[in-house]
Amino acid sequence: MNMKSKMVVVYYSHSGITKAVAEFIKEKVGGDIFEIEPLEPYPSSYNATLELANKELASGYKPTLKKRLGNMDDYDVIFLGSPVWCGTIAPAVTSFLSTHDLSGKTIIPFCTHGGGGESNTFRDIRMLTPGSTVFVGGSFMGNPQRKISTWIEIQLNQKS
Ligand SMILES: Cc1cc2nc3c(=O)[nH]c(=O)nc-3n(C[C@H](O)[C@H](O)[C@H](O)COP(=O)(O)O)c2cc1C
Repeated sequence: MNMKSKMVVVYYSHSGITKAVAEFIKEKVGGDIFEIEPLEPYPSSYNATLELANKELASGYKPTLKKRLGNMDDYDVIFLGSPVWCGTIAPAVTSFLSTHDLSGKTIIPFCTHGGGGESNTFRDIRMLTPGSTVFVGGSFMGNPQRKISTWIEIQLNQKS
């Protein structure tokens, strides 16, 4: 990884855990941070969100986002974070990927989960970004800062 690479940490977070991990990564690597926000926020209750997420994932629904990351050309490296939702990325992250051109860029994906692990999250990010170089994903339960630091160090020493 070229030390002059311009980085941005892009994430979606429903209950704040992925946000905390994203903020920790930004503190470590510098660059910018961008929160993916659906125009219509999800319900705050877990069960209502789960029910909606299941419906959206089954139909391939991609929620409209509040704002775009407008200056994509400024970045070479994108840390991309999502909570694991029903074994994959949250629909808002799919919306982000389908409305931003990440071809030619390096994506370093990460996810947070509730105990079920990464499941298909990284595979699905790869499928949606055929023109990008996608590094080994970091899968975290909660916000384990030492584990995240080690993972970041390994990623930044990769060649893109
Ligand atoms: C709709 C929904 C689906 C979820 N599906 C999974 C899952 O398949 N596997 C898992 O380990 N955790 C699952 N979880 C738990 C979240 O991945 C976990 O709590 C995550 O850290 C939340 O991140 P956030 O606080 O950034 O939203 C799910 C949570 C929600 C709300």
